Amino acid sequence: MTDVQICEVGPRDGLQNAKHLMPTPAKKAWIEALAGAGLREIEVGSFVPPKLIPAMADTAEIVAFARTLPGVKVVALAPNLKGFQRALEAGAHKVTFPVSASRLHSESNVRMTPEQMVEEVRGCARHPHPGVEIEGAVSTAFGCTLQGAVPEEDVLRIAAALAEFCDCVALADTVGYANPAQVKRLFRKVKSEIGQKLEGAHFHNTRGLGLANALAAYEEGVRAFDSSMGGLGGCPFAPGASGNVITEDLVFMFESMGIHTGIDLEALFKARGLLTSAIPEEPVYGHIPLAGLPKGFRQHV
Ligand code: COA
Ligand code: ZN
Repeated sequence: MTDVQICEVGPRDGLQNAKHLMPTPAKKAWIEALAGAGLREIEVGSFVPPKLIPAMADTAEIVAFARTLPGVKVVALAPNLKGFQRALEAGAHKVTFPVSASRLHSESNVRMTPEQMVEEVRGCARHPHPGVEIEGAVSTAFGCTLQGAVPEEDVLRIAAALAEFCDCVALADTVGYANPAQVKRLFRKVKSEIGQKLEGAHFHNTRGLGLANALAAYEEGVRAFDSSMGGLGGCPFAPGASGNVITEDLVFMFESMGIHTGIDLEALFKARGLLTSAIPEEPVYGHIPLAGLPKGFRQHV
């Protein structure tokens, strides 16, 4: 048993925003190495129109491959019923829907208002999906580069609506606007509204506060975190969005605090090697991979 559950979103959030396309065989090798390092939840791609995001065109093949990796929960993002049906056909274990609390981001990202998107997800939840988990992710929950401030009431209203028919709800800081005090306040408020349905925290490191925000969420009782290897990531439809909280650094933070992630750091560095050799021109980040583990550091995997 682990103390926290880390979902690696690099193959989706990371590669959707990368300038360089990762070939399908390299994606498979990378995902296999991530699973080998102990990641038990991997968001492997999205079911969006391939014309819109060519890097996600092979998601069905990637989902089918990831399903062969023992013990891995295979997650895919879908923006609408068509994407959900494609995800079900491919065999995803969990499907996550981005529901922006910002009207402008929602319209830019999925061409629907937040209210329309909530109804789209409700329709998906009504569609038969035996054994498949549905997550409603409230995007731009902490602010938006298009709209600016996002009222907390809007986040609460959307989270409460999603909690009616989703298995779990996550709060996402799509553009890296959150700070730790805000994270604590909003997670507490949403939790008081929807209780245990509130699960995941999805942070971006755009302004350097990714780890601080993750720790703040942990202190509020959050135990499920998204992160991206090498700090890849960002929504192509949110101006100024950049990489997710960095998996390597997040795992190190938790492990150094004695919080068990189930992830082997040395094996994680090997997976990073596969990522950087597959798309060598793509900038990657991370403190712990560059500095190395502290002398005498022992991890109990
Ligand atoms: N997968 C594949 N094709 C899809 C699709 C999906 N999920 N959803 C729609 N399409 C196809 C339609 O069949 C249609 O094809 P056609 O032109 O051959 O008839 C075309 O795309 C347009 O469909 P429409 O329903 O009008 O979509 P849209 O152009 O209004 O776009 C979304 C709406 C939601 C599909 C699009 O905005 C989207 O994919 N957004 C997500 C973007 C994203 O990945 N953001 C980052 C992650 S949060
Ligand atoms: Zn993201």
